[in-house]
Amino acid sequence: MSSDPIGNGTPPEDSVTIVNNASGRQVTFPVLQGTCGPKVIDVRKLYGATDMFTYDPGFTATGSCESRITFIDGEAGILLHRGYAIEELAAHSDFMEVCYLLLYGELPTIEEKDRFTHSITHHTMVHEQLHKFIDGFRRDAHPMAIMCGVVGALSAFYHDSTDIGDPYQRMVASYRMIAKMPTIAAWAFKYSLGQPFMYPRNNLNYAENFLHMMFATPAEDYEVSPVIAKALDRILILHADHEQNASTSTVRLAGSSGANPFACIAAGIASLWGPAHGGANEAVLNMLNEIGSPNRIGEFIDKAKDADHPFRLMGFGHRVYKNFDPRARLMRESCYEVLRELGIEHEPLLELALELERIALEDSYFVDRRLYPNVDFYSGIIFKAIGIPVSMFTVLFAVARTVGWVAQWNEMVEDPNQKIGRPRQLYTGYAQRGFVPLAERG
Ligand code: CMC
Repeated sequence: MSSDPIGNGTPPEDSVTIVNNASGRQVTFPVLQGTCGPKVIDVRKLYGATDMFTYDPGFTATGSCESRITFIDGEAGILLHRGYAIEELAAHSDFMEVCYLLLYGELPTIEEKDRFTHSITHHTMVHEQLHKFIDGFRRDAHPMAIMCGVVGALSAFYHDSTDIGDPYQRMVASYRMIAKMPTIAAWAFKYSLGQPFMYPRNNLNYAENFLHMMFATPAEDYEVSPVIAKALDRILILHADHEQNASTSTVRLAGSSGANPFACIAAGIASLWGPAHGGANEAVLNMLNEIGSPNRIGEFIDKAKDADHPFRLMGFGHRVYKNFDPRARLMRESCYEVLRELGIEHEPLLELALELERIALEDSYFVDRRLYPNVDFYSGIIFKAIGIPVSMFTVLFAVARTVGWVAQWNEMVEDPNQKIGRPRQLYTGYAQRGFVPLAERG
C-alpha cells in the first residue's frame, strides 16, 4: 500500500489533485489501494495543507480505518471474513470456528479449535454477584437495556482484564465477552419471566448452551433439538461481523480513547439497539404482525414510499449492499430448512414476508433505489419458529456480533496508525457575541 506524503515534489503516480477555485491552489493527495474494494484518497493531511475539512455526515464516503477482517462488495452482494465467503462458512463451518477465524485471522487446526472451544466453554459462567446486578432492574425492562447495563458493568467484575496495553489481558477480556454474552442474554430473558437463572453446562456447545439457559428450568431439563441448535449456530455465523457498521464503529470510537473493552462493547450494544441497525429484526416482526394479511401490503408499501411519512420498510435497504444482502439469502434458506425440520408447513408470517419481498422488488421505488431485503428481514421468522421471543431478537444479534466487535477492537488497539477518533464539524451556529445580563434580556 502506498502512502506518500502530499504536495512534496512529484506527485505519486496514483494520486488525486484538488484545486481550490477561489485561490487557484492545487494540492495532491496519495491514493491507497487495499486488497479488494475501491481505492481511497488519503486525506489525513488535508487540513494542514488546505485549512479545510471534509464534510461527510453518516460517513457515506469515509474509510475510518485499515482493516483485514471483513470485506463487503455491496454492488456484487459479496461478504468475506478473512477472505472466506459467508456462503462457504455458513455451509461448512460452525460459530466457534468463525470466532477463531475473526479473532486470529486463520481457520484453526483441529487442536487449535478444540483448545479455543474448551476455553470459551470454560468462561461461560459469570461472577455470581451479577445475579444481584440483574435483580436491580425492573421486571419489564427490555433485555437490550439490561444488556447495555450489565455488559458495561463487567469492567467492575473483571478488572484484571482491563489493561488494554497488555495483549494477554486483551485476549482474556475477548474470550470472557464471547463466552459470557449468551449467559447474560439468557439471564436477561429469565429475569423478565421471573424464572430462576440457569447456569451454563460445559457438555453443551455454544448454541445448545444458550438454548439450555433460555429454556430449561431447575424443575425440568430442556432437551436441545440438534436441528434448532444447528440453525441457531448458522444464524450466529451470519451475524458475526460486518465491517465498519454503526455498532462496530462505535466500539472502535469508544475504544480509541483507551476505554476498557467491556465499556466499549456496551457502547456497541447501545448502537446496535436502534431500529436502523440491529433493532430492525424486532421491528420486522412487529411490522409483519401489524400488516397482518397480504391484502394490506400495498398500504404499507405506499407508506414506506411516502417521503413525508417516517415509516420505512423494516428489513429493507442497506448502506453498503445495493444488491441482495448475501446473509438475507442464507437466512431465507435457513427459514425454509427450520420450518421443514420443525414440521411447520404453513407459516403465515413467512408467506407474508415472501409476498412483501416480491411486491417491493417489483416496485420502481425500491428498484430505483436498489433496496433489497437485508439480514434482518428473515431472521425474526426463524427466531420465532425456534421459540425465541421478539424482545430477544436484537439481543441474539448482540451475542453473535460480540466476536466481530472484539476482533475489530483488538485490531484497532494493535494498529500503529490508531489515534483517538475525533471528527470535526461544519459549524453553523452563532459566531462569537457578547453576553447579555439576565435583567437586560427581552
Ligand atoms: N423503506 C423505504 N425507503 C427506504 C428504505 C426503507 N427500508 N431504506 C432506504 N429508503 C430510501 C430512503 O428514504 C432514501 O430515499 P430518497 O433517496 O428518496 O431520500 C433512499 O432509499 C436511500 O436511503 P438512505 O436512508 O439514504 O440510506 P442509508 O444508507 O442512510 O440507510 C438503512 C440505510 C439500512 C438505515 C435504511 O435502508 C433503513 O432505514 N432500512 C430499514 C431498517 C433496516 O432494515 N435496518 C437494518 C440494516 S441491515 C442490518 C444491520 O445493520 O443491523
